Amino acid sequence: MNTPNPTSSSAAAQPLPRIAVLATGGTIAGAAPDVANTAGYQAGVIGVAQLLAAVPGLDAIARIQAEQVASIDSKDMALALWTTLAQRINTLLAGDDIDGVVITHGTDTLEETAWLLHLAVKSSKPVVMTAAMRPASALSADGPLNLLNAVTLAASGAAAGQGVLVAFNNRIHCARDVIKISTYAVDAFQSPEIGALGWVQDGRVEFQRRALRAHTVDSPFTANGPWPHVEIVTSYAGVSRIAVDALVAAGALGIVVAGTGNGSIHSTLQQALVEAAAKGVAVVRASRVGSGHVMHNGAAKDDALGFISAGTLNPYKARVLLALALARGITDRIELQRVFDTY
Ligand code: SIN
Repeated sequence: MNTPNPTSSSAAAQPLPRIAVLATGGTIAGAAPDVANTAGYQAGVIGVAQLLAAVPGLDAIARIQAEQVASIDSKDMALALWTTLAQRINTLLAGDDIDGVVITHGTDTLEETAWLLHLAVKSSKPVVMTAAMRPASALSADGPLNLLNAVTLAASGAAAGQGVLVAFNNRIHCARDVIKISTYAVDAFQSPEIGALGWVQDGRVEFQRRALRAHTVDSPFTANGPWPHVEIVTSYAGVSRIAVDALVAAGALGIVVAGTGNGSIHSTLQQALVEAAAKGVAVVRASRVGSGHVMHNGAAKDDALGFISAGTLNPYKARVLLALALARGITDRIELQRVFDTY
């Protein structure tokens, strides 16, 4: 699906869309002591007005309403801030005076926030997240072009009804599929199993496909809290059961295991998880591999052991979905498996 260049003369006759830009911090708002420094910077120190001022031509694409929701390094993302962000987006999009939302965010937990919002935003209006790998102070900072592309995408009719999208390095990703795949490269995001949905470049938005799973208005989940205690453990050579036993003792309601390969689990860890599941803890098998899916093993394994399989969700995204489902009161294992098979 192609959309006309929003700066073309035919589009210019229409009033420009009103886009709320919600800033939360991150490297896109980071500053370093000198322009060649792309690692020793402080994230989240530049305000949203300055971010927008660095993007010439934005006012020809949209009427911008800017808000500073937070100023954090996204490694410190908190569940309470997820609630604040989701509620603010829902409030803005429920009104008639905002046509779409752009969120600037750190890259480190962007994939988690994007997936959370994909399920918890209750609007079909465009919601686009973006970020940067280089601080705003750097030579060749990538933030301004990413922000321009994010606003271009949010202002285009093509983004409506597609859930939360991530505009990064000219690509458009679905929030469900996108993950960070590099610690330093400017092309740091991919949707490894499924691929990107399309591109945004030079004012042009092009989708090649749509995500099919239910989201936003077709999802029953909210981010209103309270958030159930759900944690992640990893399977690896020589792993002990200490972490699982401690989580159960601490009252965790859910545990996602980042298994090896197709979600396989070291026998020591598996025994601890079987015992946890028998006590009513929801145990989800995901994979630490980074792409592919974790297949439901059926009667012989998952059903007998009391586990749920995460499909193509990585452990961090599986944790988000498990927390949302538990918060909604879904605790039955078969029902939880249906949730993972649906969203
Ligand atoms: C962060 O996630 O806030 C810092 C790292 C980044 O944005 O690239």
